[in-house]
Amino acid sequence: MILVCLGNICRSPMAEVVLTQALKEAGLDGRVAVRSAGTGDWHLGEGMDVRAQAALADRGYDPSRHRARHLEADWFAEDDLILVMDSANLRDVTSTAPTSADRSRIRMFRASDPDAVGDLDLPDPWYGGQDAFEQVLDTLERTADALVEQLRLTIDSA
Ligand code: 4NP
Repeated sequence: MILVCLGNICRSPMAEVVLTQALKEAGLDGRVAVRSAGTGDWHLGEGMDVRAQAALADRGYDPSRHRARHLEADWFAEDDLILVMDSANLRDVTSTAPTSADRSRIRMFRASDPDAVGDLDLPDPWYGGQDAFEQVLDTLERTADALVEQLRLTIDSA
């Protein structure tokens, strides 16, 4: 699975850490590979935004190992699912996908959010304060739990 946002220093790496932990708690680590990338390359090689790191560390996650990566066309063939954080990401990732089969595996991350009403964008916290990062983390934790249950059903029925 590839989690995608714009810069790969806030939302998608936070989602990677949260989902990886949720999979581990569900005993599904080793069954689902999770990685993340950005549609932009401005932050290549950088760690997560310090506000993202603070929000994660405050809830007991380890944000220290992330280094920002850029989504490349040859990643698509390697993963079953590509989950994007907002509709701009959806547009950009769709236009990068090499084949229609690749495009058919792209979804909005918050399509699994049980509390989603209206649009499925996960707002970019980059221009917000620490509270914007806390809200992102609330959404990521809730959605990751629901996603893990969906993945469990898929794995069990395979
Ligand atoms: P992300 O947030 O897409 O959630 O990683 C952003 C990070 C950096 C920028 C924009 C969004 N930027 O413009 O550099």
